[in-house]
Amino acid sequence: MAHLPVQTKPAVLALLLAGVLAACGRPEPAAPVANPTPTEQEIAGARDAASQLGSRLKARLMAAMSEGGPIAAIEVCAEEAPQIAQQVSEETGYRVGRTSLRVRNPANAPDAWEQEQLMSFMKDLQDGADPAGLEAAEIVTDGGREVFRWARPIMLEAPCATCHGQSVSPEILAEIKARYPDDTATGFAVGDLRGMFTVSK
Ligand code: HEC
Repeated sequence: MAHLPVQTKPAVLALLLAGVLAACGRPEPAAPVANPTPTEQEIAGARDAASQLGSRLKARLMAAMSEGGPIAAIEVCAEEAPQIAQQVSEETGYRVGRTSLRVRNPANAPDAWEQEQLMSFMKDLQDGADPAGLEAAEIVTDGGREVFRWARPIMLEAPCATCHGQSVSPEILAEIKARYPDDTATGFAVGDLRGMFTVSK
């Protein structure tokens, strides 16, 4: 992993603030405590959960495509993707899923943290970053609780274009629209940022 854009802004701000307060030479009020950084163990657990979800989904998708073709595979995706995510979450203890700035299933829509990471991945990729080196890991405070959050990009590969590409066949498009009337997940080119794996604990 050459490039690890772990979010450090809160820590940097806290340090700056501490410096300013110290410079005043007065007994300073307690500086806001920065969130701790995620541990190597948490990051390793998140990577493992995401790659398990990714490889199981891909295996299931490829099998369904070759057995029954893309229309049948849509049904498999629709019914099994959420179940597989649930299974991997239970097995690993890390809640894992997929999200995107343009979702097919509205249940996969990003929250504010996820949206921020997706935008940041998009920018890094535009600046020429290698997607394999992009990852986000952060401890955030959510409703008074500390939550470990992690994300990694999902890039569009050639087989994905059948259902997410720029020239999806009318039959496939009709099947997608029947299940997902608000689908916004077509029009991607191979190599585009399709979405990301998202993990929390
Ligand atoms: C056979 C059609 C089909 C193919 C091929 C396919 N997908 Fe999907 N994709 C779907 C469907 C259907 C969903 C909605 C699943 C759900 O309800 O959670 C989906 C959802 C997703 C999501 C979750 C976010 C969202 O939009 O809801 C991502 C990310 C994704 N696909 C990426 C990929 C990638 C990467 C590939 C290639 C490895 C791929 N897909 C191949 C049909 C397909």
